[in-house]
Amino acid sequence: MFKIAVLISGGGSNLQSIIDTISASKVGYEITCVIADRKCYGIERAEKNNIKTKIFDRKILKKDISKKIDEYLGNKVDLVVLAGFLSILDENFINKRKGRVINIHPSLLPKFGGSGMFGMRIHRAVIETKEYESGCTVHYVDAGVDTGEIIEQRKVKVEAEDTAETLQKKVLVEEHKLLPKAIEQVLNNLR
Ligand code: GRF
Repeated sequence: MFKIAVLISGGGSNLQSIIDTISASKVGYEITCVIADRKCYGIERAEKNNIKTKIFDRKILKKDISKKIDEYLGNKVDLVVLAGFLSILDENFINKRKGRVINIHPSLLPKFGGSGMFGMRIHRAVIETKEYESGCTVHYVDAGVDTGEIIEQRKVKVEAEDTAETLQKKVLVEEHKLLPKAIEQVLNNLR
């Protein structure tokens, strides 16, 4: 059984999609712990499902957050899943876990990625530039921001009546399908 850690900063709907997949089907992995960089609703979701949680407060730890999470995880997990985690993990953390850290991003990378591109900013930018499609990407995490190798993407159409808010909702529906599938795929490659 593979062990995964899920790192979050917010609502944790993507975390929920992993939890639901685990309870609905036979998967070869379990969530060992959920780590957040601040108090957030995702932590409550984990607790409701009896998953171990840990908060590393990014406001207190600042640049030390990677080191603290690194020490906490050690070699305990096979895969680290960033599911709406807003802190940037440093090179040391990533290099120790090459091919074992993945992230979900709500755009069709390489478009609308990089530093400062998170949350509603992404969807607003997609609407403003009049893209005809958007979507979500799961990618390996490297030393850059949103630059790692792409594992898989799902697309949505941007309709004329779409706003950043409606687009976010549409993309999130696809994220919830994509992330559990991508986790399975990455873990299969580790077998
Ligand atoms: C998602 O859009 C994810 O792609 C991005 O942050 C958001 C997290 O949403 N990285 P949630 O906390 O999983 O609901």
